[in-house]
This record gives sequence, C-alpha cells and structure tokens, in this order.
Amino acid sequence: MESPTLPAPPTPETLTAPSMPKLGGGWPLVGHNFRRLFWPMEFLTDLSGLQGDLAWVSMGRNNWSIYALNPSLYDVLKDKSCSVRHYFEVAPTLLGKSLLTQDGEPHRSGRNAMNKPFTPSGLSAQGTSEIMKEVIERQVGVMLQKPDPLALIEMRTLALDIIFRILGIPHDELDGWREHYEEVMLTLSPVKLRFPGSPEWRAERARAWITERIQTRIAAIRQDPAITGLLAEMVRGWDAQELRGDDGGLIDNVLLLALAGHETTASTMTWMACHLAQDPALWDRVVAEAQAVGAVPQHPKDLAQFPLIEGLFRECLRLYPPVTSISRRLLEPVEIAEVTVPAGAEITFPILSWNRDARHYPDPERFTPDRWVGRERRPSPLETIAFSFGPHFCLGYHVAWTESVQLGVALALQASAKGLRPAMAEGFPKAKYVGLCTPEKKGTRLKWVAA
Ligand code: HEM
Repeated sequence: MESPTLPAPPTPETLTAPSMPKLGGGWPLVGHNFRRLFWPMEFLTDLSGLQGDLAWVSMGRNNWSIYALNPSLYDVLKDKSCSVRHYFEVAPTLLGKSLLTQDGEPHRSGRNAMNKPFTPSGLSAQGTSEIMKEVIERQVGVMLQKPDPLALIEMRTLALDIIFRILGIPHDELDGWREHYEEVMLTLSPVKLRFPGSPEWRAERARAWITERIQTRIAAIRQDPAITGLLAEMVRGWDAQELRGDDGGLIDNVLLLALAGHETTASTMTWMACHLAQDPALWDRVVAEAQAVGAVPQHPKDLAQFPLIEGLFRECLRLYPPVTSISRRLLEPVEIAEVTVPAGAEITFPILSWNRDARHYPDPERFTPDRWVGRERRPSPLETIAFSFGPHFCLGYHVAWTESVQLGVALALQASAKGLRPAMAEGFPKAKYVGLCTPEKKGTRLKWVAA
C-alpha cells in the first residue's frame, strides 16, 4: 500500500515546546515500551505525575510518541490530518485495505457503503440482532451445562460465532470457520519467514480458504436480489458506492469485522460475567431487572429496558477498555494544546488513562455500574472513547452494546430459572494488557452455586 511521504517524526530535540515534559525512566533501546505493555498501571501513574496536556514518551531507540494527557484532546481525532495508515504496517495480512488503514475519501466511501446495516435500525431490519439473541441464548445454555466454565473461552466462542452467523454462515459450518480464523491469526507470530508449515504460510493458506468462501457468498448475493442479511447489505452498499472493482477491499473489511468484533466484545462480556459472579447483590439486581421484562431483547431499541445491565457494560469498558490506546500519524502540522505539532508526529490517545481520570469520573478506580444509571443524557464522546472518536469511531458499537446487554439478560434469566447464580471458582481475574486488555484466562473460571 502506498504511504504518503512524511517528514521524519519530531523528537524532544527537534520540537522543543516548553509545555511538553518528557517522561523519565525509559530503558536504553526499548524506551518505555516494556513498562507500557507489562506494567500499564505503573506507567499510567508515571504519566499522571507529569504536568501539561502533552508529553513525550519514548517508544524505543530514538522514536518518540506524543501522548495526549488531557482527555479533552479527544477532539483532535476528528482532524483530517490524522492518519491511520501506519496501522497497515503493524498487521498487513489482517488489516489489508480495510477501513482501519484508510484515510480521507477512500475511507469515507467504504464507510458509507457499510454504515447502514450496523445502525440500530439496520441491525433490526436485517435480522442481525435476532441472530445474535439466538446465538447467545444457545451458548449461555451450553455454559450452564458445564460445572466450571472458563468465561473467557466461552465468550470468545460466542463472539466469533456471532460474527460468522451474522455474515450468513450456517451453524453447522461454524467449526471450520473458527479453525481457519485461528490459523489466520498466526500472522501475528513473530516468526515472519514463509516456508511450508510456517505460521505465516499457514495464515495465508487459511486466509485463502476464508476469502474463497466469502467470494462465493458475494457472487451469490449479486446474482440473487432476494438474499437479505448483513453481508448482503454490505455488498449492495459497496456496489452502490461504485466500489465493485475493489472486491479485495470488501473482503478485507469482512475479515476486519471478525478481528475487530471478536476479542473486544469477548473481553467485555467476560468482565461483565466475572463482576456478576463476584458480587451477589449486583447479580440479584440484574436478575430482578431481567425478570421484570422476562425476555432477552431482540432489538437495539429495547435495550433501554435494562439500564443496570447497560451500566455494567459501560463500567467494564471504562475500567478495562479492550483497546487501551489508539494512535494517529499527522499528515500536516496540527495545533494541539497551543503547540504546533509538525507532520510526521505520532500522537497517542491513552484511553486507559482517560477512562480513569478523576476530572471526569469521581472515585475513578471504583467499579460502579450505577454511575451510568438514571441519567437523562446519552453518553458523551469521552464516555464512549473506548470505541474511539471521529471518522474511525467503531462501526460495531451498536453490535457490541446489543450483544453485551443480551448476554447479561440471557445469563440472568437462564441461571435464575435453574435456581443458580455464577460465582468465581478461583478468585477474580487480573487484567492482561499485551495486545488488547483482556482478563487473564485462568482467572475467569466460574462455578454455579444455589441462588
Ligand atoms: C467492546 C467491543 C468493541 C470495542 C471496545 C471496539 C473498539 C474499537 C476502536 C477503539 C476502534 C477504532 C480504532 C481507532 O480509532 O484507531 C474500532 C474500530 C472498528 N470496529 Fe470496533 N470495537 C468493538 C466491537 C466491534 C464489533 C462488534 C465490530 C463489528 C461487528 C467492530 C468493528 C469495527 C470496525 C469495522 C472498525 C473500523 C472503523 C473505521 O475505521 O471506520 N468493533 N473499534
């Protein structure tokens, strides 16, 4: 993919703004990378000791990122000079020419093509939220039959099945799709050599398997206007934007749905289940809320009937945002917090620390689902920052929200109908931050106890 030629990124030596402190304590060669990845809470404490809105953080060698310390700077994400093309360099096989690597007009037309089936009314009209409900009810039933399910594993299966099912894959083909998707993820292995049997070779082979099947589905949709559903809407949107010559981009976007919508929601739903298992009083209130309605919501418009479960979803995302930070490369100079930041600079927006900022959340370290309940207004851009802001705001926001509330209600209704409630079998999971923020798998073991 072509990248614009950008000047070398600035360093504290080349951009000497007095208001930009430099985070101390970086290690030779790796800078703050280890601390950032393995001890993020300590890293955040280091950051919070700095004064000002922007700060330099070393990314190793002489690479520096400018951290937006002040949450009010979220607005910068809307600036048209903010590019995401550097994401391509991180995972070319996975991201390809998908929305997450495109700026400007190519991004706009792709996004316009895909938006409609992901809106609340689109999710209802295409039967998507109904399929999600069906998958969730079935999977919760499976979980209830296991004496000590690992919540993270159950939620991963659930989240991936949802993506494939809403793309029209029949239930009996899911095992094959899951297996091949896991092979595609081998592309993230540090071994980049390509020889028969190597991780990269296997990833490419699995990608070809998936691509061939998606192509067949796309061809069938184009031939038969009677086919409906989310993928059909995406294909028709794609063709309406006159992007038909670029089916590679469409397929990259279908793969992006699995990548972006799987581990993120699985992590959030696991935290939800673990908090319910840890706090019987919260569980009782959630059961009461679910029983008052008596059914899993089928449409996004029905979610308002479950304010506490929605609060649980939002509070889990606040404390454990799966995507802990996002970054942009500046294509043009941008004025940020009274500093003219030159083209080529990388700006990091640290969602994890913004979500624990006492200026916006009283008692920020405390898990309080009720802070979201009984409000008259919709969540502000900062309160949904776990899903980003600006043109790349998460396409699957309503899928994630609907799916998580459906999960909370299904769990409460099905377990309580059996006279059971979940409890943690081995303590409460620690958070892991390498890649996405997820609960540590082994700490997510549940058990069922008499309610
Ligand atoms: C809790 C769940 C989720 C979280 C926290 C989340 C978070 C995010 C974030 C932070 C971004 C933007 C990254 C950036 O600006 O650099 C993003 C983009 C995206 N997400 Fe999600 N996501 C979630 C669920 C989903 C689901 C369920 C889907 C699809 C079914 C999805 C599809 C996408 C797509 C396609 C993009 C790219 C949008 C664009 O570039 O225009 N996500 N997501």
